[in-house]
Amino acid sequence: SPFTRRAFLGTVALGLAGCTSGNPLILPTDPLVSRTESARGGTGRTRAVTLTATRSQVDLGGPVVDTWTYDGALPGREIRVGAGDLVEARLVNRLPADTSVHWHGLALRNDMDGAPPVTQAAIKPGEDFTYRFVAPTPGTYWFHPHTGTQLDRGLYAPLIVEDPAEPGGYDAEWVIVLDDWLDGTGTDPDEVLAGLRRRGGHSMHGMTGLGGDVPHPHHLINGRVAAAPVTFAAKPGHRVRIRFINAAADTAYRVALSGHRMTVTHTDGFPVTPVDTDALIMGMGERYDVLVTLGDGAFGLVALAEGKNATARAIVRTGSGAVPDVRPAELDGKVVTYDELRAVAPLSARKPDVVHRMALTGGMMSYEWGINGRTGDLTPARVRSGQRVRLEFANTTMMWHPMHLHGHTFQLGGPRKDTVIVRPGQTVACEFDADNPGQWMVHCHNAYHAEAGMMTALGYE
Ligand code: C2O
Ligand code: CU
Repeated sequence: SPFTRRAFLGTVALGLAGCTSGNPLILPTDPLVSRTESARGGTGRTRAVTLTATRSQVDLGGPVVDTWTYDGALPGREIRVGAGDLVEARLVNRLPADTSVHWHGLALRNDMDGAPPVTQAAIKPGEDFTYRFVAPTPGTYWFHPHTGTQLDRGLYAPLIVEDPAEPGGYDAEWVIVLDDWLDGTGTDPDEVLAGLRRRGGHSMHGMTGLGGDVPHPHHLINGRVAAAPVTFAAKPGHRVRIRFINAAADTAYRVALSGHRMTVTHTDGFPVTPVDTDALIMGMGERYDVLVTLGDGAFGLVALAEGKNATARAIVRTGSGAVPDVRPAELDGKVVTYDELRAVAPLSARKPDVVHRMALTGGMMSYEWGINGRTGDLTPARVRSGQRVRLEFANTTMMWHPMHLHGHTFQLGGPRKDTVIVRPGQTVACEFDADNPGQWMVHCHNAYHAEAGMMTALGYE
C-alpha cells in the first residue's frame, strides 16, 4: 500500500508544522487543550514528574531479569493527579532505542498523545520530551510507550486521576497491574515477533483463540510472580476500592478474589451503575474498578491467564489463617459481561452520521494481522468535528482482539470504554462524538498483533 507509516509521517509532519513551529519540543506557553480538557476547566495546580526510561535489572520475586523500565521500577511509579491538574511529564530516554509515552484512555490534545510518527516524532536515545496536558477526566488510566513492542519489556505504569467531587466511601484503595512476562534469560520481544513472522504462531504455541501467541512463562501482579506475591493488609469489614489494569502484551486474564464478590463501579475510568460479579475478564489495555467488603482471614487475588492456564496472584490478609493456594471457586462463577453494565453518564441517543466498518483480519500462519485486509496501513478513516461516529469491529479471525481507540471514550451499548474485547466471529459497535480533532490510532492492544499490522488511524478532516 502507498500509505506506509513512513509515507504517513510526511503528510502529518506538514499538518502539524503550523501549530508547533515544526519543533515538537516547543509547546505554546498557553496550553491549547482538547475539548474534554477545557470542558473540565483547570485547577491551576501543576504536577511535574520526570520519567527515565532505562535499562534495569528487576527481581520478579525469584526470576531476575534484565529489561527496560521507568526508573528501575516494575510497574513504573504511579502518577496520581486530580482532574483538572496540569501534568508536566518529562520523559528522559536512556534506552538504546527510540521511545514515546502514550497516556492510555485520556482524551488529550492530539500532539500530547505520544503515538509516533503520527502525533510526534519518536524520542531518540539521549533525548527528552515533556508531555504537557490537563488531566481531563477522573479514572483509572495507565501509560506505556507507543513504539514497537516496548510495553512488553516492562515500560508501563498506572495513571490515576482522582475526582475531587467523588464521595469516596471506602477505607483503602489498591492498584493492581497485571502483566505477562517472557522468560528471564534475556528474551527480547522484538526477536519473539521476528520469530512469529518467520515461522508463524503455530510453531510456538497452540491456537487457543484467546490471543495466546507468545510464550510468556511468568504472570505478574504488581511485578511479582505467583510464588512471591505482593500482600495487601486490611481489616475485616473494610471496604476497598481496587483499580485493575491489564498491562499485558498478549494475555487476557480472568480475575477473582477468593471468598468474595466484587462490585464493578467503573469501566476504563468511567462510572457505571454498580453490578456484582464473581470474576472479571480483562483484555489487554482494559481497566475495571471494583469495591469489595473484606471478610476475615487470608485470601488469594488471582488472575488466570485465559487459554494459558497459568496464574498471577496477590494475597489479601485481614486476619490469621493459611493463604489458600488453590484456584478460587469464584473464577468459575459469574463473569460480568459488557451487556450488564450501564454508564452513569451515557452518550445522548443520536443516529450516527458516519459508520466505519473495520474487519479484523489475518491469522497465525503468516502472522500478518490487519484491518480490512491491510497491514499497518495508517491511512485515516475520515471523520468531521461534531459528527456522531460509529465504529464496527468485525472479527474475521480465530483470535481475541482487544481494540483500542485513542483520544476518545466510546459508548459500547451500556458502558463507556476505550478498549473492547472483540471475540472470534463477533462484531462489536462503538459510538462516540467527534470532539477532539487530530489523527488518532485505532489498534489491537495485543502488542504483537498491533506491531504485526493490526493498527490504523482515524483522522479529522
Ligand atoms: Cu494503550 Cu495505542 O495504546
Ligand atoms: Cu489482536
